[in-house]
Amino acid sequence: MGTVGGGTVNVLKRNAEEIARRAGRGVVITHAATRDINKQRICDTTGITLTTDPQVVVNDPEVQIIVELIGGDGLARELVLAAIANGKHVVTANKALIAKHGNEIFARAQEKGVVVAFEAAVAGGIPIIKAVREGLAANRVEWLAGIINGTGNFILTEMRDKGRDFADVLAEAQALGYAEADPTFDVEGIDAAHKLTILASIAFGIPLQFEACFTEGITRITREDVNYAEELGYRIKHLGMARHTDKGVELRVHPTLIPERRLIANVDGVMNAVLVKGDAVGPTLYYGAGAGAEPTASAVVADLVDVTRTLTADPENRVPHLAFQPDALSDLPILPMAAVETAYYLRMQVADKPGVLADVTRILGDAGISIEAILQKEPVGESDATIIMLTHRVLEGQMDQAIAAIEALDSIDGSIMRIRLEHLDAD
Ligand code: HSE
Repeated sequence: MGTVGGGTVNVLKRNAEEIARRAGRGVVITHAATRDINKQRICDTTGITLTTDPQVVVNDPEVQIIVELIGGDGLARELVLAAIANGKHVVTANKALIAKHGNEIFARAQEKGVVVAFEAAVAGGIPIIKAVREGLAANRVEWLAGIINGTGNFILTEMRDKGRDFADVLAEAQALGYAEADPTFDVEGIDAAHKLTILASIAFGIPLQFEACFTEGITRITREDVNYAEELGYRIKHLGMARHTDKGVELRVHPTLIPERRLIANVDGVMNAVLVKGDAVGPTLYYGAGAGAEPTASAVVADLVDVTRTLTADPENRVPHLAFQPDALSDLPILPMAAVETAYYLRMQVADKPGVLADVTRILGDAGISIEAILQKEPVGESDATIIMLTHRVLEGQMDQAIAAIEALDSIDGSIMRIRLEHLDAD
């Protein structure tokens, strides 16, 4: 009965008639567990039995569906497994739970013939799970890229547009109910990694492998980087990227330069967007509110309608949790970052003297790294000059070696700022 719980009660009540017309029967909230019964809420709880003991809800024989909106993977996991053991269907918005324990949860649900629905776990109100799992079922998904953390996108947007301070924007996102209980999950990319893990599994038919997802946060991005990127025609976004290759799956969340002409580069504020490239359909883009009470409730209630419709359906013939049949999941490995191929933005501080640029380009050339664009900013006063380079695609392992060699030059000051770059074109 927090932000999303309150939103769910409100949407279910307000749209009760419409929802019953769609589901073929009414959906009624009978119980709700809450930490503090007397807390002031955004919803009217008339007709709902409130309790501080969630076990009462998951063990009530009259309850058919449990909606888990607690978050975290401790108590939530226990309750979801208990509900499944009791033969109840589950609807959850809990991305950490699904990303980390989904394999176990779906196996139990399969055994018991119940559904665990999790549309609200990824990109708030955007029906991206349904789109990838069902709408794109004809396709071999080649890659997907998403702005899937509203808080992080809100921070980057406000920093860029209004020059606002990082901490100040984060505090506003927390006040608006967008941020995670621990906001480092938002800014360090952990929340996005949870969501990306789920998307990759349903896109490629692989087990959930959150631990293998690479994450890099947005805290090192400076206003200068944002400005230089703009000068070169790019926006910096905190992007989740999953790509299917012959050798394995790329699974990574990091700040990324995206050409500003791409629609996804213009997704601002708390909005989310996911770009999915299928071999038959080509690139498709899904956009909407990624956080907030009613947008997330929209996905929760859609799942409730879906589950309600399946109450009478044969468990063997339902849509599989991870889109592919459980015994048909692929063992394609998640690639280490050294084996990932991407383009780069590099920013370095260099001594303003002859031959420095030649040394840098020689190292890149020897490593087989081709430069796409270059920008040199003249030194201000006593300071070094700044060089910004965009490279063509290269294996990250090769780039790591080249960066180490450049940083070892006497004429380079400090470490090189490296931001990955994705063109996200139709290929
Ligand atoms: N903290 C998340 C976000 C909430 O900002 O996107 C939605 O999952």
